[in-house]
Amino acid sequence: MSKRDFLSLLDCSPEELRALLARGSELKRSLHEGEPYRPLVGCTAALMLLLNSTRTRVAFEAGMNQLGGQAIFLGAADTQLGRGEPVTDTAKVLSEMVDIAIIRTQNHADVESFAGAASIPVVNAMTNRFHPCQLLADMQTYEELRGPVEGSTVAFLGDGYNMCQSYINAARQYGFCLKIACPPGFEPEAGLLAGSNDTTLTEAPREAVENADLVVTDVWSSIGHDEEREKRRNAFAPYQVNEDLLDYAKDDVLFLHCLPAHRGEEVNETVLDDPRSGAWTAAGNRLHSQKALLEFLLVER
Ligand code: CP
Repeated sequence: MSKRDFLSLLDCSPEELRALLARGSELKRSLHEGEPYRPLVGCTAALMLLLNSTRTRVAFEAGMNQLGGQAIFLGAADTQLGRGEPVTDTAKVLSEMVDIAIIRTQNHADVESFAGAASIPVVNAMTNRFHPCQLLADMQTYEELRGPVEGSTVAFLGDGYNMCQSYINAARQYGFCLKIACPPGFEPEAGLLAGSNDTTLTEAPREAVENADLVVTDVWSSIGHDEEREKRRNAFAPYQVNEDLLDYAKDDVLFLHCLPAHRGEEVNETVLDDPRSGAWTAAGNRLHSQKALLEFLLVER
């Protein structure tokens, strides 16, 4: 089997992405019913998370364990990367020892270089450009709670950063209409927007949310933007998601946030626990969707 990487949603076909959603839900059901499924006995994942993580780390470690394999966690202080070993050398070495590399790092180009030099599958566990694993969980959650996402209208509010850019790819791959509301100066990459017929951009949050089936936001200051936090708080203040804003969407709107959340900034104190929020279900679905991804990349098809 030739290796496959998962650096963005564009690394899979729409059919493969749809199958991953269904498989994530199926693995969730079989776990809850206590059915043993261990196709990855003898497999090892190098989980190289060079930035902080709760959900992604636990989902991949628990997922590898449940599928019969194991994960070796490597944090920022654990590897020779911090002491100047090239990414491509590290990729060649890990390819001799483990079956898959899962990487979170700031610079997306580093994951691309790693994948180019590795003979094993490489997964993007979040970079400055994309967070495709989160999108698998979000899409699975929407379909479990509301039905097919194809043909729906999705509003993304806030920073045009890695989550927003992942939603641009998702609109293209899953076939929905995306309305992005962000302040001037915080738009997603122009090249991504130019390549998407399904995405529109506005500065008006209410305009984006009107009649939306799904409303999504993310933190205003992601990793790497900490020194801009005060400036960003002012620019993003009108884009806070709260119950009043959700009232402009469809009656059965779903609200998602990838977490961690900053209450009082991109969300108010209560909206994550509003009946229209699926944030906790989506967090749980990180486990099931990532298990489906591991199976897709590692089990002979
Ligand atoms: N949403 C997400 O990726 O969470 P972590 O940063 O905790 O992994």
